[in-house]
Amino acid sequence: MLTDDPPLKQAYKVSLQPSGLQFETDPAMSLLNSALLAQIRLPSSCRNGTCRTCLCKLKSGEISYQIDWPGLTREEKAEGYLLPCVAVAQSDLVIDAPDAVSLK
Ligand code: FES
Repeated sequence: MLTDDPPLKQAYKVSLQPSGLQFETDPAMSLLNSALLAQIRLPSSCRNGTCRTCLCKLKSGEISYQIDWPGLTREEKAEGYLLPCVAVAQSDLVIDAPDAVSLK
């Protein structure tokens, strides 16, 4: 059956280092909120991409941003830094997030 609905976006697996914690992304949510849904807390404050409290580093994978100007310099982006409060996964990810905490 044909519909006008856009194709469903895919969920991806995120692995956090060095903890080894893992979660699946909800395609409609930021990485920060997907992690929270899986009871994993990452540092955060503003949750809108400006304060940089959530700053962590992408080791592998592709992301995109929900906002046009996340608070990162071009150099930081090139080095792999990301702001999970406004980022969504575009592939499976490995993220260096030493302050991730399991809430389970
Ligand atoms: S929580 Fe402020 S930039 Fe992510």
